[in-house]
Amino acid sequence: MESELEREIGIGVIGLGWMGRVHTSSYRRMLEHFPDAGVKPRLVVAADISETRRAHAERVGFERTAADWRAVLEDPAVKVVSITVPNAMHREVAVAAAQAGKHIWVEKPVGRGVSDTEAVAAAVRRAGVLSGVGFCYRFAPAVQHAHELIAAGEIGDITHYRGVFLADYANRPDAAASWRFLRADAGSGALGDLMAHIVDLTHFLVGPIERLSGRVATHIPRRPAQPMGEGTHFTRVETDELVDVENEDWASALIEFPSGVVGSLETSRVIVGPHVKLRFEIHGTRGALAWELERMNELERFRFGDDEGYTRVVAGPQHPGFAAFQPGAGIPMGYDDLRVLEAAHFLAAVRDGEQRAPGLDEMVATAHVLDAIERSAESGLWESSTVRAAT
Ligand SMILES: NC(=O)c1ccc[n+]([C@@H]2O[C@H](COP(=O)([O-])OP(=O)(O)OC[C@H]3O[C@@H](n4cnc5c(N)ncnc54)[C@H](O)[C@@H]3O)[C@@H](O)[C@H]2O)c1
Repeated sequence: MESELEREIGIGVIGLGWMGRVHTSSYRRMLEHFPDAGVKPRLVVAADISETRRAHAERVGFERTAADWRAVLEDPAVKVVSITVPNAMHREVAVAAAQAGKHIWVEKPVGRGVSDTEAVAAAVRRAGVLSGVGFCYRFAPAVQHAHELIAAGEIGDITHYRGVFLADYANRPDAAASWRFLRADAGSGALGDLMAHIVDLTHFLVGPIERLSGRVATHIPRRPAQPMGEGTHFTRVETDELVDVENEDWASALIEFPSGVVGSLETSRVIVGPHVKLRFEIHGTRGALAWELERMNELERFRFGDDEGYTRVVAGPQHPGFAAFQPGAGIPMGYDDLRVLEAAHFLAAVRDGEQRAPGLDEMVATAHVLDAIERSAESGLWESSTVRAAT
Protein backbone atom coordinates (compact mmCIF):
# COMPACT_ATOMS: atom_id res chain seq x y z
CA MET A 1 0.00 0.00 0.00
CA GLU A 2 1.28 3.47 -0.87
CA SER A 3 2.36 5.37 2.22
CA GLU A 4 0.31 8.47 2.98
CA LEU A 5 3.58 10.22 3.65
CA GLU A 6 4.84 9.49 0.15
CA ARG A 7 5.29 12.75 -1.72
CA GLU A 8 5.15 12.72 -5.51
CA ILE A 9 8.03 14.57 -7.19
CA GLY A 10 7.49 15.61 -10.81
CA ILE A 11 10.48 14.73 -12.99
CA GLY A 12 11.67 16.23 -16.27
CA VAL A 13 14.61 14.90 -18.32
CA ILE A 14 16.36 17.01 -20.96
CA GLY A 15 18.48 14.94 -23.37
CA LEU A 16 17.53 11.32 -24.01
CA GLY A 17 20.82 9.77 -25.15
CA TRP A 18 22.78 7.32 -23.03
CA MET A 19 22.63 9.36 -19.83
CA GLY A 20 19.01 10.45 -20.35
CA ARG A 21 18.05 6.78 -20.50
CA VAL A 22 20.14 5.98 -17.42
CA HIS A 23 18.60 8.84 -15.38
CA THR A 24 15.10 7.82 -16.52
CA SER A 25 15.68 4.23 -15.52
CA SER A 26 17.06 5.35 -12.11
CA TYR A 27 13.88 7.26 -11.37
CA ARG A 28 11.76 4.31 -12.51
CA ARG A 29 13.68 1.87 -10.31
CA MET A 30 14.08 4.04 -7.24
CA LEU A 31 10.96 2.97 -5.35
CA GLU A 32 11.72 -0.68 -6.05
CA HIS A 33 15.01 -0.34 -4.15
CA PHE A 34 14.02 2.41 -1.68
CA PRO A 35 10.37 1.74 -0.79
CA ASP A 36 10.66 3.85 2.36
CA ALA A 37 12.16 6.92 0.67
CA GLY A 38 9.01 8.95 1.34
CA VAL A 39 9.09 10.30 -2.22
CA LYS A 40 7.80 8.88 -5.46
CA PRO A 41 9.21 10.11 -8.79
CA ARG A 42 6.57 10.88 -11.43
CA LEU A 43 7.90 10.95 -15.00
CA VAL A 44 6.18 14.09 -16.31
CA VAL A 45 7.96 15.29 -19.45
CA ALA A 46 11.16 14.56 -21.36
CA ALA A 47 12.79 16.43 -24.25
CA ASP A 48 15.14 15.56 -27.10
CA ILE A 49 15.56 16.66 -30.70
CA SER A 50 15.45 12.99 -31.75
CA GLU A 51 11.96 11.66 -32.45
CA THR A 52 13.11 8.07 -31.95
CA ARG A 53 14.48 8.89 -28.52
CA ARG A 54 11.29 10.76 -27.56
CA ALA A 55 9.21 7.75 -28.62
CA HIS A 56 11.35 5.53 -26.42
CA ALA A 57 10.86 7.85 -23.43
CA GLU A 58 7.10 7.64 -23.87
CA ARG A 59 7.28 3.87 -24.13
CA VAL A 60 9.07 3.61 -20.80
CA GLY A 61 6.66 5.85 -18.91
CA PHE A 62 6.92 9.59 -19.56
CA GLU A 63 3.48 11.21 -19.68
CA ARG A 64 4.61 13.33 -22.63
CA THR A 65 7.69 14.46 -24.54
CA ALA A 66 8.76 17.59 -26.42
CA ALA A 67 11.33 18.52 -29.06
CA ASP A 68 11.97 21.86 -27.33
CA TRP A 69 13.62 21.51 -23.90
CA ARG A 70 11.94 24.72 -22.68
CA ALA A 71 8.65 22.81 -22.48
CA VAL A 72 10.13 20.85 -19.55
CA LEU A 73 10.87 24.01 -17.59
CA GLU A 74 7.47 25.55 -18.33
CA ASP A 75 5.59 22.64 -16.78
CA PRO A 76 4.60 23.51 -13.19
CA ALA A 77 4.31 19.81 -12.31
CA VAL A 78 8.08 19.39 -12.84
CA LYS A 79 10.09 19.92 -9.63
CA VAL A 80 13.35 18.13 -10.54
CA VAL A 81 15.13 18.24 -13.89
CA SER A 82 17.83 15.89 -15.13
CA ILE A 83 20.15 17.69 -17.54
CA THR A 84 21.70 15.05 -19.77
CA VAL A 85 22.39 16.97 -22.97
CA PRO A 86 25.92 17.54 -24.39
CA ASN A 87 28.21 19.77 -22.33
CA ALA A 88 27.74 22.93 -24.42
CA MET A 89 24.06 23.06 -23.45
CA HIS A 90 24.53 22.51 -19.71
CA ARG A 91 24.95 26.19 -18.87
CA GLU A 92 21.94 27.58 -20.75
CA VAL A 93 19.62 24.75 -19.68
CA ALA A 94 20.80 24.58 -16.05
CA VAL A 95 20.65 28.35 -15.50
CA ALA A 96 17.15 28.47 -17.02
CA ALA A 97 16.06 25.49 -14.89
CA ALA A 98 17.33 27.11 -11.68
CA GLN A 99 15.63 30.39 -12.60
CA ALA A 100 12.41 28.43 -13.12
CA GLY A 101 12.79 27.12 -9.54
CA LYS A 102 13.62 23.51 -10.50
CA HIS A 103 16.13 21.39 -8.59
CA ILE A 104 18.73 20.05 -11.01
CA TRP A 105 20.56 16.75 -11.35
CA VAL A 106 23.07 17.71 -14.01
CA GLU A 107 25.70 15.58 -15.67
CA LYS A 108 29.39 16.27 -15.28
CA PRO A 109 31.36 18.25 -16.42
CA VAL A 110 28.61 20.95 -16.14
CA GLY A 111 29.52 23.00 -19.18
CA ARG A 112 32.65 23.50 -21.19
CA GLY A 113 34.91 24.72 -18.41
CA VAL A 114 35.23 26.78 -15.23
CA SER A 115 33.22 29.81 -16.37
CA ASP A 116 30.22 27.68 -17.42
CA THR A 117 30.36 25.64 -14.21
CA GLU A 118 30.64 28.73 -12.02
CA ALA A 119 27.75 30.42 -13.85
CA VAL A 120 25.54 27.40 -13.12
CA ALA A 121 26.71 27.32 -9.48
CA ALA A 122 25.87 31.03 -9.10
CA ALA A 123 22.41 30.58 -10.67
CA VAL A 124 21.68 27.64 -8.35
CA ARG A 125 22.76 29.69 -5.32
CA ARG A 126 20.71 32.71 -6.35
CA ALA A 127 17.60 30.63 -7.00
CA GLY A 128 17.98 28.62 -3.77
CA VAL A 129 17.48 25.31 -5.59
CA LEU A 130 19.36 22.06 -4.92
CA SER A 131 21.91 20.45 -7.21
CA GLY A 132 23.27 16.99 -7.83
CA VAL A 133 26.16 16.32 -10.24
CA GLY A 134 26.66 12.93 -11.89
CA PHE A 135 29.76 11.81 -9.98
CA CYS A 136 28.28 8.34 -9.78
CA TYR A 137 31.40 6.38 -8.82
CA ARG A 138 31.32 7.84 -5.32
CA PHE A 139 28.25 5.68 -4.80
CA ALA A 140 29.94 2.30 -5.35
CA PRO A 141 29.71 0.49 -2.00
CA ALA A 142 33.40 -0.46 -2.20
CA VAL A 143 34.34 3.21 -2.78
CA GLN A 144 32.15 4.30 0.13
CA HIS A 145 33.89 1.66 2.26
CA ALA A 146 37.31 3.02 1.18
CA HIS A 147 36.13 6.49 2.21
CA GLU A 148 35.08 5.20 5.63
CA LEU A 149 38.38 3.38 6.16
CA ILE A 150 40.45 6.45 5.25
CA ALA A 151 38.31 8.75 7.42
CA ALA A 152 38.72 6.33 10.35
CA GLY A 153 42.52 6.51 9.97
CA GLU A 154 42.77 2.83 9.02
CA ILE A 155 45.54 3.38 6.47
CA GLY A 156 47.30 6.10 8.51
CA ASP A 157 48.64 9.26 6.90
CA ILE A 158 48.47 9.19 3.12
CA THR A 159 51.88 9.05 1.49
CA HIS A 160 51.25 8.00 -2.15
CA TYR A 161 48.30 8.46 -4.52
CA ARG A 162 47.66 7.40 -8.12
CA GLY A 163 44.41 7.80 -10.06
CA VAL A 164 43.68 6.85 -13.68
CA PHE A 165 40.71 6.71 -16.01
CA LEU A 166 41.91 4.86 -19.11
CA ALA A 167 39.17 4.20 -21.67
CA ASP A 168 39.25 2.63 -25.12
CA TYR A 169 36.08 4.01 -26.72
CA ALA A 170 38.01 5.99 -29.33
CA ASN A 171 41.16 3.91 -29.75
CA ARG A 172 40.55 3.23 -33.46
CA PRO A 173 40.79 5.91 -36.17
CA ASP A 174 37.30 4.99 -37.46
CA ALA A 175 35.67 5.73 -34.08
CA ALA A 176 33.30 8.59 -34.86
CA ALA A 177 33.91 12.23 -33.91
CA SER A 178 30.75 12.56 -31.83
CA TRP A 179 30.09 15.89 -30.08
CA ARG A 180 32.67 14.81 -27.46
CA PHE A 181 35.53 15.59 -29.90
CA LEU A 182 34.45 19.16 -30.76
CA ARG A 183 35.36 22.21 -28.64
CA ALA A 184 32.09 24.02 -29.35
CA ASP A 185 30.02 21.06 -28.12
CA ALA A 186 32.20 19.54 -25.39
CA GLY A 187 34.93 21.97 -24.30
CA SER A 188 37.81 19.72 -23.31
CA GLY A 189 38.04 16.06 -24.40
CA ALA A 190 39.23 13.27 -22.10
CA LEU A 191 39.60 15.83 -19.30
CA GLY A 192 35.89 16.73 -18.97
CA ASP A 193 34.68 13.33 -20.08
CA LEU A 194 36.85 11.03 -17.96
CA MET A 195 39.39 12.87 -15.80
CA ALA A 196 36.50 14.71 -14.09
CA HIS A 197 35.50 11.43 -12.42
CA ILE A 198 38.94 10.56 -11.07
CA VAL A 199 39.50 14.13 -9.86
CA ASP A 200 36.21 14.00 -7.94
CA LEU A 201 37.13 10.62 -6.43
CA THR A 202 40.52 12.05 -5.43
CA HIS A 203 38.81 14.99 -3.70
CA PHE A 204 36.28 12.66 -2.05
CA LEU A 205 38.85 10.18 -0.75
CA VAL A 206 41.98 12.22 -0.09
CA GLY A 207 41.05 15.92 -0.21
CA PRO A 208 41.69 18.95 -2.42
CA ILE A 209 44.45 19.03 -5.01
CA GLU A 210 46.41 22.23 -4.40
CA ARG A 211 48.64 22.55 -7.48
CA LEU A 212 49.73 20.49 -10.41
CA SER A 213 51.87 20.08 -13.48
CA GLY A 214 49.80 18.85 -16.44
CA ARG A 215 50.27 17.62 -20.02
CA VAL A 216 47.76 16.90 -22.80
CA ALA A 217 48.01 15.21 -26.22
CA THR A 218 45.80 14.30 -29.18
CA HIS A 219 46.79 10.96 -30.71
CA ILE A 220 44.22 10.65 -33.51
CA PRO A 221 43.76 14.11 -35.08
CA ARG A 222 41.00 13.33 -37.65
CA ARG A 223 37.92 11.09 -37.46
CA PRO A 224 34.63 10.43 -39.28
CA ALA A 225 31.84 12.88 -38.37
CA GLN A 226 28.71 11.82 -36.51
CA PRO A 227 25.42 13.78 -36.50
CA MET A 228 24.01 14.86 -33.10
CA GLY A 229 21.38 12.52 -31.70
CA GLU A 230 22.69 9.45 -33.55
CA GLY A 231 24.83 6.57 -32.33
CA THR A 232 27.05 6.70 -29.27
CA HIS A 233 30.64 7.69 -28.68
CA PHE A 234 31.50 4.02 -29.27
CA THR A 235 30.11 4.12 -32.85
CA ARG A 236 32.54 3.33 -35.69
CA VAL A 237 31.95 4.76 -39.17
CA GLU A 238 33.41 3.69 -42.55
CA THR A 239 34.04 6.84 -44.63
CA ASP A 240 36.85 8.90 -46.15
CA GLU A 241 35.22 12.14 -44.99
CA LEU A 242 37.01 13.11 -41.83
CA VAL A 243 36.75 16.08 -39.46
CA ASP A 244 39.37 17.54 -37.12
CA VAL A 245 39.44 16.38 -33.51
CA GLU A 246 39.51 19.62 -31.51
CA ASN A 247 40.38 18.48 -27.99
CA GLU A 248 42.75 16.14 -26.16
CA ASP A 249 42.69 12.33 -26.26
CA TRP A 250 45.08 12.00 -23.32
CA ALA A 251 46.01 14.03 -20.25
CA SER A 252 48.18 13.53 -17.23
CA ALA A 253 49.20 15.50 -14.14
CA LEU A 254 51.56 15.37 -11.22
CA ILE A 255 49.40 16.63 -8.34
CA GLU A 256 50.25 18.02 -4.93
CA PHE A 257 48.01 17.96 -1.87
CA PRO A 258 48.20 20.62 0.91
CA SER A 259 50.15 18.07 3.01
CA GLY A 260 52.93 18.20 0.42
CA VAL A 261 52.25 14.64 -0.73
CA VAL A 262 52.66 14.32 -4.49
CA GLY A 263 50.55 11.93 -6.58
CA SER A 264 49.61 11.40 -10.21
CA LEU A 265 46.57 11.34 -12.48
CA GLU A 266 46.25 10.02 -16.04
CA THR A 267 43.37 9.74 -18.47
CA SER A 268 42.95 8.53 -22.04
CA ARG A 269 40.09 7.80 -24.41
CA VAL A 270 42.36 6.09 -26.96
CA ILE A 271 44.24 3.51 -24.92
CA VAL A 272 44.60 -0.03 -26.29
CA GLY A 273 44.06 -2.74 -23.69
CA PRO A 274 41.93 -1.45 -20.81
CA HIS A 275 38.22 -0.82 -21.41
CA VAL A 276 37.15 1.50 -18.55
CA LYS A 277 40.09 1.36 -16.19
CA LEU A 278 38.95 3.91 -13.62
CA ARG A 279 41.28 3.06 -10.76
CA PHE A 280 42.77 4.60 -7.64
CA GLU A 281 45.66 3.35 -5.50
CA ILE A 282 46.13 4.99 -2.11
CA HIS A 283 48.95 4.18 0.29
CA GLY A 284 49.30 5.39 3.86
CA THR A 285 51.73 4.89 6.72
CA ARG A 286 49.79 1.84 7.98
CA GLY A 287 47.98 0.35 4.99
CA ALA A 288 46.85 0.68 1.39
CA LEU A 289 43.66 0.56 -0.68
CA ALA A 290 42.96 0.12 -4.39
CA TRP A 291 39.73 -0.03 -6.42
CA GLU A 292 38.79 -0.15 -10.07
CA LEU A 293 35.58 0.10 -12.02
CA GLU A 294 36.01 -3.10 -14.03
CA ARG A 295 35.89 -4.94 -10.68
CA MET A 296 33.52 -2.48 -9.05
CA ASN A 297 32.38 -4.81 -6.26
CA GLU A 298 35.82 -5.40 -4.80
CA LEU A 299 38.19 -3.32 -2.70
CA GLU A 300 41.85 -4.30 -2.43
CA ARG A 301 43.09 -3.72 1.11
CA PHE A 302 46.54 -4.10 2.67
CA ARG A 303 47.41 -3.72 6.35
CA PHE A 304 50.68 -4.13 8.21
CA GLY A 305 50.65 -7.77 9.17
CA ASP A 306 49.07 -8.83 5.85
CA ASP A 307 52.38 -10.30 4.76
CA GLU A 308 50.77 -12.41 2.03
CA GLY A 309 49.72 -9.20 0.21
CA TYR A 310 46.44 -7.45 -0.44
CA THR A 311 43.14 -8.85 0.85
CA ARG A 312 40.21 -8.79 -1.58
CA VAL A 313 37.20 -7.30 0.25
CA VAL A 314 34.05 -8.35 -1.62
CA ALA A 315 31.20 -5.79 -1.44
CA GLY A 316 28.22 -6.99 0.57
CA PRO A 317 25.22 -5.80 2.60
CA GLN A 318 27.56 -4.47 5.32
CA HIS A 319 28.81 -1.77 2.89
CA PRO A 320 26.88 1.46 2.19
CA GLY A 321 24.11 1.10 -0.41
CA PHE A 322 24.60 -2.60 -1.25
CA ALA A 323 21.68 -4.06 0.71
CA ALA A 324 19.16 -2.10 -1.39
CA PHE A 325 20.11 -4.31 -4.34
CA GLN A 326 21.34 -7.75 -3.32
CA PRO A 327 20.86 -9.84 -0.17
CA GLY A 328 24.33 -11.35 0.01
CA ALA A 329 27.97 -10.47 -0.60
CA GLY A 330 29.43 -11.28 -3.98
CA ILE A 331 26.22 -10.98 -6.00
CA PRO A 332 27.42 -8.18 -8.30
CA MET A 333 25.93 -4.70 -8.54
CA GLY A 334 26.28 -2.82 -11.85
CA TYR A 335 26.74 0.72 -13.21
CA ASP A 336 22.99 1.38 -13.45
CA ASP A 337 22.61 0.48 -9.78
CA LEU A 338 25.04 3.28 -8.86
CA ARG A 339 22.75 5.68 -10.68
CA VAL A 340 19.72 4.38 -8.69
CA LEU A 341 21.70 5.09 -5.49
CA GLU A 342 22.49 8.54 -6.85
CA ALA A 343 18.83 9.25 -7.71
CA ALA A 344 17.71 8.10 -4.26
CA HIS A 345 20.40 10.29 -2.64
CA PHE A 346 19.36 13.35 -4.66
CA LEU A 347 15.62 12.91 -4.18
CA ALA A 348 16.18 12.42 -0.44
CA ALA A 349 18.03 15.76 -0.45
CA VAL A 350 15.04 17.32 -2.25
CA ARG A 351 12.66 15.69 0.24
CA ASP A 352 14.67 17.18 3.14
CA GLY A 353 15.35 20.53 1.43
CA GLU A 354 19.07 20.08 2.10
CA GLN A 355 22.04 20.41 -0.27
CA ARG A 356 24.22 17.26 -0.23
CA ALA A 357 27.42 16.29 -2.02
CA PRO A 358 28.16 15.74 -4.82
CA GLY A 359 26.61 18.93 -6.20
CA LEU A 360 27.76 22.10 -7.92
CA ASP A 361 30.37 22.96 -5.23
CA GLU A 362 32.14 19.65 -5.85
CA MET A 363 31.92 20.16 -9.63
CA VAL A 364 33.39 23.67 -9.36
CA ALA A 365 36.35 22.24 -7.39
CA THR A 366 36.88 19.59 -10.08
CA ALA A 367 36.53 22.11 -12.93
CA HIS A 368 39.39 24.15 -11.44
CA VAL A 369 41.65 21.08 -11.47
CA LEU A 370 40.78 20.29 -15.10
CA ASP A 371 41.38 23.93 -16.01
CA ALA A 372 44.75 23.94 -14.22
CA ILE A 373 45.83 20.88 -16.23
CA GLU A 374 45.06 22.72 -19.47
CA ARG A 375 46.78 25.90 -18.25
CA SER A 376 49.84 23.97 -17.11
CA ALA A 377 50.06 22.05 -20.39
CA GLU A 378 50.12 25.44 -22.12
CA SER A 379 52.55 27.22 -19.77
CA GLY A 380 54.79 24.28 -18.92
CA LEU A 381 54.62 25.47 -15.27
CA TRP A 382 53.06 24.18 -12.05
CA GLU A 383 49.64 25.83 -11.71
CA SER A 384 47.32 26.37 -8.74
CA SER A 385 44.22 24.16 -8.94
CA THR A 386 42.22 25.39 -5.97
CA VAL A 387 38.97 27.33 -6.26
CA ARG A 388 39.78 31.03 -6.34
CA ALA A 389 37.52 33.34 -4.33
CA ALA A 390 35.07 35.23 -6.55
CA THR A 391 36.20 38.83 -7.19
N1 LIG B 1 28.26 10.31 -15.10
C1 LIG B 1 28.60 9.49 -16.08
O1 LIG B 1 29.04 8.38 -15.83
C2 LIG B 1 28.42 9.93 -17.51
C3 LIG B 1 28.55 8.98 -18.54
C4 LIG B 1 28.32 9.41 -19.86
C5 LIG B 1 28.02 10.73 -20.14
N2 LIG B 1 27.94 11.64 -19.12
C6 LIG B 1 27.59 13.05 -19.42
O2 LIG B 1 26.21 13.08 -19.81
C7 LIG B 1 25.99 14.07 -20.82
C8 LIG B 1 25.34 13.41 -22.02
O3 LIG B 1 26.18 12.38 -22.52
P1 LIG B 1 25.60 11.14 -23.35
O4 LIG B 1 26.67 10.13 -23.46
O5 LIG B 1 24.29 10.75 -22.78
O6 LIG B 1 25.38 11.85 -24.77
P2 LIG B 1 24.43 11.36 -25.95
O7 LIG B 1 25.00 11.96 -27.20
O8 LIG B 1 24.19 9.90 -25.87
O9 LIG B 1 23.03 12.09 -25.60
C9 LIG B 1 22.84 13.47 -25.71
C10 LIG B 1 21.40 13.70 -26.13
O10 LIG B 1 21.12 15.09 -26.12
C11 LIG B 1 20.24 15.35 -27.22
N3 LIG B 1 20.27 16.76 -27.63
C12 LIG B 1 21.21 17.42 -28.33
N4 LIG B 1 20.82 18.70 -28.53
C13 LIG B 1 19.59 18.82 -27.96
C14 LIG B 1 18.67 19.90 -27.83
N5 LIG B 1 18.91 21.09 -28.36
N6 LIG B 1 17.52 19.68 -27.16
C15 LIG B 1 17.23 18.46 -26.64
N7 LIG B 1 18.08 17.40 -26.72
C16 LIG B 1 19.25 17.59 -27.37
C17 LIG B 1 20.80 14.46 -28.32
O11 LIG B 1 19.84 14.27 -29.36
C18 LIG B 1 21.10 13.18 -27.55
O12 LIG B 1 20.01 12.29 -27.53
C19 LIG B 1 27.37 14.68 -21.11
O13 LIG B 1 27.51 15.88 -20.42
C20 LIG B 1 28.36 13.66 -20.58
O14 LIG B 1 29.58 14.22 -20.14
C21 LIG B 1 28.11 11.26 -17.82
